[in-house]
Amino acid sequence: MLSLPVMSTYVDLHCHWIAGIDDGARTPDEGIQMLRALKSIGFCEVVATPHMRPGMFDNERADLVGAFERMQPLLAEHADLPTVGLSSEHYFDSTVFDRVLADQALPYPGQRAILLEFYPLAFPLHIEQRLADIRRRKLLPVIAHPERYQSVWKQPEILERLVDLGAAALLDAAALDGKYGRQPKRCARDLLERGLYHAACSDAHRPADVAPVVQGMSWIAKEYGQEEVDFLFREGPRAILAGELPT
Ligand SMILES: [Fe+2]
Repeated sequence: MLSLPVMSTYVDLHCHWIAGIDDGARTPDEGIQMLRALKSIGFCEVVATPHMRPGMFDNERADLVGAFERMQPLLAEHADLPTVGLSSEHYFDSTVFDRVLADQALPYPGQRAILLEFYPLAFPLHIEQRLADIRRRKLLPVIAHPERYQSVWKQPEILERLVDLGAAALLDAAALDGKYGRQPKRCARDLLERGLYHAACSDAHRPADVAPVVQGMSWIAKEYGQEEVDFLFREGPRAILAGELPT
């Protein structure tokens, strides 16, 4: 059975609470509601990860920093929110990869790790060399929602290989509740059973997205115990922010 922490101790490494910059919160108030809901289920820290995806969300680093700063006065008006940080969900095409190498991306606070999103049908050619390039820049690559990638559905060993090469895998807990359909749900359960995830997150875009995260937490607690929930939402994210692969 899930027991949410009395004190908020969890860290959310993937959330779209900044308003009006991508497909996340539509208004500042909606962003505040999301943060409040995440606090109520145990998150003491929520890192904003708005999309940087050329052609769909044409955000560069300065755009995201500006949007984050515009939210600050409103955040200051509310006492019951988690602490916040800014990063980005980097879509891994050649444009964004070049930004990462040119130090124009937005790694996680502390500058030790970076969140990467991939094309859903297949990982890019040369991904292993590219992840090695990122590691050489002293950044831990964090693979967003691997359970949503079709190549991982067919061959979970692909993710195993990337993890062996030093990437971290970040579960979107709502996938366990079927938010993205049958295949991602099945894949998330399989990857969890294989012990491939290093941490879990909300990837919330709306206040209503918090409910399936709780369902995902409950499922993990039922199958693997409360310790696994705490590991995936507390120890795992903290290690990633320090640039380390959680063990
Ligand atoms: Fe996301």
